[in-house]
Amino acid sequence: MPSTGMISSPGSIAGLPKFLSLIAHDWLRRSFYVFAKLGVADLFDGAKPHTVSELIANNTDQTINFHGERLQRILFHVEQGGLVHSDSKKSTEPIFTLTEDGQLMRATHPLKMQGIVLWDLGSVQWDLGGVSSGIESHLAAMVAQQGPYANDQTATPVSLKLKSDNWFEAFASRPELKQTSDLFNVAMSAYSNIEWQAIRSSNDIQKRISKYSVLCDIGGSLATFSVNCLHLHPQLHAVSFDLPEVSRQARVEQKDLPENILCRLRIIGGGFFDLDSLKQISPNALLESINSPTKSVVYHMKNILHDWSDEKTLEILYNLKTTFLGDSLPDQQITLLLTENHILPSDHPAAEQFNWINRGLDIHMLLMTGGKQRTVVQWQHLLEQTGWEYQQIVTTESPISVVIAKLVKP
Ligand SMILES: C[S@@+](CC[C@H](N)C(=O)[O-])C[C@H]1O[C@@H](n2cnc3c(N)ncnc32)[C@H](O)[C@@H]1O
Repeated sequence: MPSTGMISSPGSIAGLPKFLSLIAHDWLRRSFYVFAKLGVADLFDGAKPHTVSELIANNTDQTINFHGERLQRILFHVEQGGLVHSDSKKSTEPIFTLTEDGQLMRATHPLKMQGIVLWDLGSVQWDLGGVSSGIESHLAAMVAQQGPYANDQTATPVSLKLKSDNWFEAFASRPELKQTSDLFNVAMSAYSNIEWQAIRSSNDIQKRISKYSVLCDIGGSLATFSVNCLHLHPQLHAVSFDLPEVSRQARVEQKDLPENILCRLRIIGGGFFDLDSLKQISPNALLESINSPTKSVVYHMKNILHDWSDEKTLEILYNLKTTFLGDSLPDQQITLLLTENHILPSDHPAAEQFNWINRGLDIHMLLMTGGKQRTVVQWQHLLEQTGWEYQQIVTTESPISVVIAKLVKP
């Protein structure tokens, strides 16, 4: 609830062109980051109201010496983004309360959203590619390709500047990137939890998943999606497949699950560019290890193929087809669910609502990995070339949607 005197930030500001309104909103990012980085949510005692002096007194981190007046200005700013609520009337010092959204920024909150803010709004991902001083200039260089804006050094995605074939493998193999890689995985897990709210509410998607005995989540990171599915579907077994180092981290992350979930979860290390390791998730390999009256597998990839160029995406889809065709049961139809921020067709009722964010992520992927968010037509094309058949797209109440593909049997 807005406090007396609070100005709620509007979506656009009367009298200003829309882009100027959006630039003013963009400034909020800086204050969100400071709020998360300095652990301000943890200075609050639950939902109790506090003055800034009380918040500073609650600080136990010896490395931080808060500047009271500046902290107060940050709190007034993040109020516009819904993290705190202020009341300036009751005492000489304004009083701040942490809102429900603000509670999400606590370091110990199970949804780990502080990780999203630190990953997405901090410079860590840009530092990796040495472009933290000018992300926008770097993007301009990628688009201009030649002339004064660009040179060979600047016009590549950040991930390729790690001088490694791809940044996921760099994360896994370079100890100096361990902290960054851990933060990345935590942020992915937090996004997964948010996306799950919409995926969970989609009857269409949940009805499909409930038909299978095994769901294999390829690039499953810390196994968050698998675990969410297991909680909802008591018949299901789930396999989370990711690079060996990430899978090791996933096992640690998930070790304390209740026994009825843990006994249905497998975490397998391997890579989708390596046909030998993919054999571990062939339909027969997955079904062999489970004790279930029905035997059917569905494969899922969430936010995986958007990391890759068309060329690499074709290679991944082709590798999956080769592996799955190798030994699928004769009567088994292999389904692949691709969950991402797909660009919705312009005549789709949800396009206007969601494509602005999906287009934004598209540019983010261009900068980060050279990947992209794709349209249905682009998916049809890539799937067809690799032995898959596009079936349909299922949208959710959020920007995330699911492209469904079937393996074409020769
Ligand atoms: C953007 S994250 C998405 C993680 C998760 N699916 C989600 O939606 O939160 C991409 C994932 O792909 C994994 N990955 C990258 N290269 C891989 C490979 N060659 N084989 C298997 N997984 C890979 C990464 O380790 C990372 O967990």
